[in-house]
Amino acid sequence: MEIVIAPAEELARIAADAIEGLVRSKPEAVIGLATGSSPLKVYDELARRHTQDGLSFAQTRAFMLDEYVGLPAEHPERYRNVIETEIASRVDFAPDAVQGPDGLADDLPAACAAYEQAIVDAGGVDLQILGIGTDGHIAFNEPGSSLASRTRIKTLTAQTREDNARFFDDDIEQVPRHCLTQGLATIMSAKHLVLLATGKGKAEAVHQLAEGAISALWPATVMQLHPHATVLVDDAAASRL
Ligand code: GLP
Repeated sequence: MEIVIAPAEELARIAADAIEGLVRSKPEAVIGLATGSSPLKVYDELARRHTQDGLSFAQTRAFMLDEYVGLPAEHPERYRNVIETEIASRVDFAPDAVQGPDGLADDLPAACAAYEQAIVDAGGVDLQILGIGTDGHIAFNEPGSSLASRTRIKTLTAQTREDNARFFDDDIEQVPRHCLTQGLATIMSAKHLVLLATGKGKAEAVHQLAEGAISALWPATVMQLHPHATVLVDDAAASRL
Protein backbone atom coordinates (compact mmCIF):
# COMPACT_ATOMS: atom_id res chain seq x y z
CA MET A 1 0.00 0.00 0.00
CA GLU A 2 1.36 3.36 -1.04
CA ILE A 3 0.45 6.26 1.28
CA VAL A 4 0.83 9.86 0.12
CA ILE A 5 0.43 12.72 2.59
CA ALA A 6 -0.19 16.08 0.91
CA PRO A 7 -2.64 19.02 0.88
CA ALA A 8 -6.10 18.24 -0.50
CA GLU A 9 -5.57 20.03 -3.84
CA GLU A 10 -2.39 18.04 -4.43
CA LEU A 11 -4.16 14.78 -3.57
CA ALA A 12 -6.87 15.57 -6.11
CA ARG A 13 -4.23 16.21 -8.77
CA ILE A 14 -2.51 12.90 -8.00
CA ALA A 15 -5.79 10.99 -8.30
CA ALA A 16 -6.69 12.85 -11.50
CA ASP A 17 -3.22 12.08 -12.90
CA ALA A 18 -3.81 8.36 -12.28
CA ILE A 19 -7.19 8.49 -14.05
CA GLU A 20 -5.86 10.61 -16.90
CA GLY A 21 -2.86 8.28 -17.39
CA LEU A 22 -5.20 5.29 -17.53
CA VAL A 23 -7.75 6.83 -19.89
CA ARG A 24 -5.14 8.26 -22.27
CA SER A 25 -3.35 4.90 -22.54
CA LYS A 26 -6.57 2.83 -22.56
CA PRO A 27 -9.52 4.95 -23.73
CA GLU A 28 -11.93 2.04 -23.23
CA ALA A 29 -10.89 1.72 -19.58
CA VAL A 30 -13.41 1.03 -16.83
CA ILE A 31 -13.30 3.38 -13.87
CA GLY A 32 -15.05 3.08 -10.53
CA LEU A 33 -16.74 6.22 -9.23
CA ALA A 34 -17.45 7.05 -5.59
CA THR A 35 -19.86 9.50 -4.04
CA GLY A 36 -19.26 11.50 -0.87
CA SER A 37 -17.28 14.70 -0.48
CA SER A 38 -13.82 13.09 -0.68
CA PRO A 39 -13.62 12.71 -4.49
CA LEU A 40 -15.23 16.07 -5.36
CA LYS A 41 -11.96 17.89 -6.01
CA VAL A 42 -10.86 14.99 -8.22
CA TYR A 43 -14.04 15.34 -10.27
CA ASP A 44 -13.47 19.12 -10.53
CA GLU A 45 -9.96 18.44 -11.79
CA LEU A 46 -11.16 15.86 -14.35
CA ALA A 47 -13.85 18.26 -15.60
CA ARG A 48 -11.21 20.98 -15.94
CA ARG A 49 -8.87 18.67 -17.86
CA HIS A 50 -11.76 17.60 -20.10
CA THR A 51 -12.55 21.23 -20.97
CA GLN A 52 -9.02 22.60 -21.13
CA ASP A 53 -6.83 19.66 -22.14
CA GLY A 54 -9.20 17.55 -24.22
CA LEU A 55 -9.23 14.63 -21.80
CA SER A 56 -12.01 12.45 -23.20
CA PHE A 57 -14.13 9.76 -21.58
CA ALA A 58 -16.08 9.04 -24.78
CA GLN A 59 -15.01 5.39 -24.82
CA THR A 60 -14.66 4.97 -21.05
CA ARG A 61 -17.18 3.13 -18.90
CA ALA A 62 -17.86 3.72 -15.24
CA PHE A 63 -19.42 1.78 -12.40
CA MET A 64 -20.63 3.33 -9.19
CA LEU A 65 -19.91 1.79 -5.80
CA ASP A 66 -23.28 2.00 -4.16
CA GLU A 67 -26.80 3.40 -4.10
CA TYR A 68 -29.51 4.12 -1.56
CA VAL A 69 -32.56 1.85 -1.68
CA GLY A 70 -35.86 3.51 -2.40
CA LEU A 71 -34.94 7.13 -3.10
CA PRO A 72 -37.20 8.41 -5.91
CA ALA A 73 -35.59 8.56 -9.37
CA GLU A 74 -35.43 12.36 -9.34
CA HIS A 75 -34.18 12.74 -5.73
CA PRO A 76 -31.02 14.90 -5.79
CA GLU A 77 -29.28 12.66 -3.22
CA ARG A 78 -29.86 9.48 -5.19
CA TYR A 79 -26.27 8.52 -5.91
CA ARG A 80 -26.94 8.08 -9.64
CA ASN A 81 -28.04 11.74 -9.70
CA VAL A 82 -25.13 12.88 -7.53
CA ILE A 83 -22.65 11.24 -9.90
CA GLU A 84 -24.44 12.78 -12.86
CA THR A 85 -24.13 16.25 -11.31
CA GLU A 86 -20.61 15.94 -9.92
CA ILE A 87 -18.85 14.29 -12.86
CA ALA A 88 -20.84 12.50 -15.59
CA SER A 89 -22.57 15.59 -16.97
CA ARG A 90 -19.31 17.57 -16.89
CA VAL A 91 -17.35 15.28 -19.20
CA ASP A 92 -18.23 13.31 -22.33
CA PHE A 93 -19.25 9.81 -21.24
CA ALA A 94 -21.42 8.09 -23.85
CA PRO A 95 -25.09 7.64 -22.88
CA ASP A 96 -25.45 4.64 -20.54
CA ALA A 97 -21.67 4.45 -20.02
CA VAL A 98 -22.12 5.15 -16.30
CA GLN A 99 -23.95 2.49 -14.34
CA GLY A 100 -24.95 2.12 -10.72
CA PRO A 101 -26.77 -0.49 -8.66
CA ASP A 102 -30.55 -0.12 -9.12
CA GLY A 103 -31.94 0.88 -5.74
CA LEU A 104 -35.44 1.07 -7.20
CA ALA A 105 -35.55 -2.48 -8.59
CA ASP A 106 -38.51 -4.67 -7.58
CA ASP A 107 -36.13 -7.58 -7.10
CA LEU A 108 -33.12 -6.14 -5.30
CA PRO A 109 -31.08 -9.38 -4.99
CA ALA A 110 -31.50 -9.92 -8.76
CA ALA A 111 -30.40 -6.32 -9.39
CA CYS A 112 -27.28 -6.95 -7.29
CA ALA A 113 -26.42 -10.12 -9.21
CA ALA A 114 -26.99 -8.34 -12.53
CA TYR A 115 -24.70 -5.53 -11.42
CA GLU A 116 -21.89 -7.93 -10.53
CA GLN A 117 -22.29 -9.54 -13.95
CA ALA A 118 -22.23 -6.17 -15.73
CA ILE A 119 -18.88 -5.36 -14.11
CA VAL A 120 -17.47 -8.73 -15.15
CA ASP A 121 -18.85 -8.34 -18.69
CA ALA A 122 -17.13 -4.94 -18.93
CA GLY A 123 -13.82 -6.61 -18.15
CA GLY A 124 -13.61 -5.49 -14.52
CA VAL A 125 -12.75 -2.11 -13.03
CA ASP A 126 -9.30 -0.76 -13.91
CA LEU A 127 -9.17 2.01 -11.34
CA GLN A 128 -11.53 2.44 -8.41
CA ILE A 129 -11.85 5.77 -6.59
CA LEU A 130 -12.76 5.36 -2.92
CA GLY A 131 -13.60 7.44 0.11
CA ILE A 132 -13.74 6.07 3.64
CA GLY A 133 -16.38 6.45 6.34
CA THR A 134 -15.46 7.56 9.86
CA ASP A 135 -16.17 3.98 10.97
CA GLY A 136 -13.84 2.56 8.31
CA HIS A 137 -16.49 1.61 5.76
CA ILE A 138 -15.74 1.68 2.06
CA ALA A 139 -18.65 2.03 -0.34
CA PHE A 140 -21.41 1.05 2.12
CA ASN A 141 -19.60 -1.96 3.55
CA GLU A 142 -20.23 -1.20 7.18
CA PRO A 143 -18.28 -2.75 10.07
CA GLY A 144 -19.01 -6.48 10.17
CA SER A 145 -19.16 -6.79 6.38
CA SER A 146 -17.67 -10.00 5.07
CA LEU A 147 -14.29 -9.51 3.45
CA ALA A 148 -15.56 -11.91 0.76
CA SER A 149 -18.78 -9.97 0.10
CA ARG A 150 -20.21 -9.16 -3.32
CA THR A 151 -22.84 -6.59 -4.34
CA ARG A 152 -25.79 -6.93 -1.96
CA ILE A 153 -28.34 -5.13 0.21
CA LYS A 154 -27.02 -3.65 3.44
CA THR A 155 -28.54 -1.82 6.38
CA LEU A 156 -26.87 1.50 7.09
CA THR A 157 -25.48 2.00 10.58
CA ALA A 158 -26.72 4.79 12.81
CA GLN A 159 -23.25 6.37 12.51
CA THR A 160 -23.40 6.49 8.71
CA ARG A 161 -26.97 7.79 8.69
CA GLU A 162 -25.87 10.52 11.12
CA ASP A 163 -22.81 11.33 8.98
CA ASN A 164 -24.95 11.55 5.84
CA ALA A 165 -27.85 13.49 7.38
CA ARG A 166 -26.07 16.66 6.26
CA PHE A 167 -27.19 15.83 2.71
CA PHE A 168 -30.81 15.41 3.86
CA ASP A 169 -31.58 18.78 5.53
CA ASP A 170 -29.76 17.54 8.68
CA ASP A 171 -32.76 15.27 9.26
CA ILE A 172 -31.69 11.67 9.95
CA GLU A 173 -35.26 10.48 9.38
CA GLN A 174 -34.91 11.38 5.70
CA VAL A 175 -31.76 9.26 5.30
CA PRO A 176 -32.63 5.86 3.80
CA ARG A 177 -32.08 2.81 6.01
CA HIS A 178 -30.89 0.46 3.29
CA CYS A 179 -28.53 0.55 0.37
CA LEU A 180 -27.07 -1.61 -2.37
CA THR A 181 -23.31 -1.72 -2.31
CA GLN A 182 -20.49 -3.43 -4.10
CA GLY A 183 -19.00 -5.92 -1.69
CA LEU A 184 -15.46 -5.84 -0.36
CA ALA A 185 -14.46 -8.66 -2.72
CA THR A 186 -16.03 -6.77 -5.63
CA ILE A 187 -13.97 -3.70 -4.78
CA MET A 188 -10.85 -5.81 -4.29
CA SER A 189 -11.28 -7.14 -7.85
CA ALA A 190 -10.46 -3.70 -9.26
CA LYS A 191 -6.92 -3.51 -10.58
CA HIS A 192 -5.97 -0.26 -8.81
CA LEU A 193 -7.60 1.23 -5.72
CA VAL A 194 -7.20 4.97 -5.06
CA LEU A 195 -8.61 6.08 -1.70
CA LEU A 196 -8.88 9.72 -0.64
CA ALA A 197 -9.38 10.90 2.94
CA THR A 198 -9.10 14.38 4.40
CA GLY A 199 -9.79 15.93 7.79
CA LYS A 200 -9.33 14.89 11.40
CA GLY A 201 -12.60 12.97 11.43
CA LYS A 202 -10.98 10.34 9.21
CA ALA A 203 -7.77 9.98 11.26
CA GLU A 204 -8.83 6.89 13.20
CA ALA A 205 -10.22 5.17 10.10
CA VAL A 206 -6.99 5.92 8.19
CA HIS A 207 -4.91 4.64 11.12
CA GLN A 208 -6.89 1.37 11.11
CA LEU A 209 -6.77 1.13 7.30
CA ALA A 210 -2.99 1.38 7.21
CA GLU A 211 -1.89 -0.01 10.56
CA GLY A 212 -4.78 -2.00 12.04
CA ALA A 213 -5.26 -5.75 11.95
CA ILE A 214 -7.22 -6.89 8.90
CA SER A 215 -10.73 -7.29 10.19
CA ALA A 216 -14.35 -6.99 9.15
CA LEU A 217 -14.68 -4.57 12.10
CA TRP A 218 -12.70 -2.02 10.01
CA PRO A 219 -13.71 -2.99 6.48
CA ALA A 220 -11.13 -0.78 4.74
CA THR A 221 -8.34 -2.89 6.26
CA VAL A 222 -8.99 -5.44 3.50
CA MET A 223 -7.11 -3.02 1.23
CA GLN A 224 -3.87 -4.13 2.93
CA LEU A 225 -4.21 -7.30 0.83
CA HIS A 226 -4.53 -5.44 -2.48
CA PRO A 227 -1.46 -5.53 -4.77
CA HIS A 228 -1.99 -1.95 -6.00
CA ALA A 229 -3.58 0.36 -3.45
CA THR A 230 -2.87 4.09 -3.21
CA VAL A 231 -4.02 6.00 -0.12
CA LEU A 232 -4.09 9.78 -0.49
CA VAL A 233 -4.44 11.67 2.80
CA ASP A 234 -3.95 15.19 4.10
CA ASP A 235 -2.06 16.02 7.31
CA ALA A 236 -5.18 15.88 9.48
CA ALA A 237 -6.31 12.47 8.17
CA ALA A 238 -2.73 11.21 8.58
CA SER A 239 -2.41 12.53 12.14
CA ARG A 240 -2.73 9.08 13.75
CA LEU A 241 -0.23 7.34 11.47
C1 GLP B 1 -20.73 7.42 2.07
C2 GLP B 1 -20.40 6.66 0.79
C3 GLP B 1 -18.96 6.22 0.77
C4 GLP B 1 -18.06 7.37 1.16
C5 GLP B 1 -18.37 7.82 2.56
C6 GLP B 1 -17.48 8.96 3.04
O1 GLP B 1 -21.11 6.59 3.11
N1 GLP B 1 -21.24 5.55 0.57
O2 GLP B 1 -18.64 5.73 -0.54
O3 GLP B 1 -16.73 6.97 1.07
O4 GLP B 1 -19.71 8.26 2.57
O5 GLP B 1 -18.00 10.17 2.60
P1 GLP B 1 -17.21 11.53 2.59
O6 GLP B 1 -16.23 11.43 1.48
O7 GLP B 1 -18.27 12.57 2.31
O8 GLP B 1 -16.60 11.69 3.92
